[in-house]
Amino acid sequence: MTKSTLVFDPFSEEYFNDPFEIYRRMREEAPLYYDAEQDFYALTRHEDVAAAFKDYESFSSARGCDLAMVRTGDVPQKSIIFMDPPDHRHMRSLLNKAFTPRAIQSQRESVIELIDKYLGAIDSDEFDIVQDFSAPFPVEVITRMAGVPEESRQQVRHWIDTSLHREPGQVEIGEAGMKANIDSAMYYYNLIQERRADPQDDMISRLIAAEIPRPDGQLGKLDDIEITGFAVLLGGAGAETVTKLVGNAVVIFARNPDQWQKLFDDRSKIAAAVEELLRYEGPVQYNVRYTLKETHLPSGTIPAGKPVFLIGAAANRDPEAFTDADKFDIDRDRSQAQNLGLGYGIHSCLGAALARMESAVALEKLLDFMPRYDVIWDGLARVHMQNVAGWSNVPVKILR
Ligand code: HEM
Repeated sequence: MTKSTLVFDPFSEEYFNDPFEIYRRMREEAPLYYDAEQDFYALTRHEDVAAAFKDYESFSSARGCDLAMVRTGDVPQKSIIFMDPPDHRHMRSLLNKAFTPRAIQSQRESVIELIDKYLGAIDSDEFDIVQDFSAPFPVEVITRMAGVPEESRQQVRHWIDTSLHREPGQVEIGEAGMKANIDSAMYYYNLIQERRADPQDDMISRLIAAEIPRPDGQLGKLDDIEITGFAVLLGGAGAETVTKLVGNAVVIFARNPDQWQKLFDDRSKIAAAVEELLRYEGPVQYNVRYTLKETHLPSGTIPAGKPVFLIGAAANRDPEAFTDADKFDIDRDRSQAQNLGLGYGIHSCLGAALARMESAVALEKLLDFMPRYDVIWDGLARVHMQNVAGWSNVPVKILR
């Protein structure tokens, strides 16, 4: 039998439906994958992806983190995720203060309250875990921290969904996505003006007051565009991802009911389960970088000036890094290799502590709410998105 040609097309229906078989072939047959037509590279082996994430001097984020942006260098907003050092270092040390494990721990009660509110509103044994639960709650957590008034918090989620959506074959952002980006930026811009006039106890007000080293070496305040950029990013980075993690979790546990039972019997495994979910099928599939110089990796050399997909989700299934990599095992030995589900290196997830806490509380509450359940398999529907993968619909039935 002849093998089909190996094609990594991150905007194809085939890829959206099951990226893992494509990743396996890429790791084995083309660890330094090159797409001649589109002129990009892609890395899938753990040792290559981890090395590239670490090497920010070669792999720049300043032209953006997805293919369309990196090609044009046209980043939609000034934002930490699109910065290289030294700008990145200054911004990160400022923002780190808002996301210390202690600061996040203080959010725990309100996360529990929100999760209880959404689960409490479900009044049937059949419901959609994404639409009714994992989509609405994370955006409320993060926008509340930012300072968005309650009545606008779900609107932020709809803007993000529209902005990230891609039809099969669509690389560039569409008209609706562009409009959503502009609308959300305008919204935050206006909110920042309100907070300048009347500061509150929220992140936007604290960013308005903060000072960081500016390019001239002097301390200076952030401008409206910088604060807007961060607020827009936070909504996307902090909401979509947790939504996807919880939706993926429910599907993965339904396919591995022994693991759900194990968690039910021993809640002390919840933190480990979150790590395994991030490894096995984390919401972020890849981040794109741009090579500033010719770069040597274990699998070969990449010339300067190329977009490179760092596919963390493929590296997390690399059998050279993880024993039985395709097995979902909440008890696995986590010291084997770096889990790349929350990124790695200087851009590794700023909201990691929050992501872990929200996901752990969600799992804990779901164990109580649906100790036995099944997915209504023919109702599953995937999102078609840039960078992130997961489900838009996960209908479930609680088994009594
Ligand atoms: C399960 C949930 C999450 C996952 C899987 C995730 C994953 C990631 C990944 C892979 C990166 C690296 C991006 C890159 O290298 O280009 C990242 C960065 C980032 N994440 Fe998360 N994230 C999650 C939740 C959150 C939350 C809740 C927040 C809210 C604060 C957040 C805020 C950020 C920010 C601001 C960055 C950029 C950091 C930088 O550039 O220095 N993330 N995240």
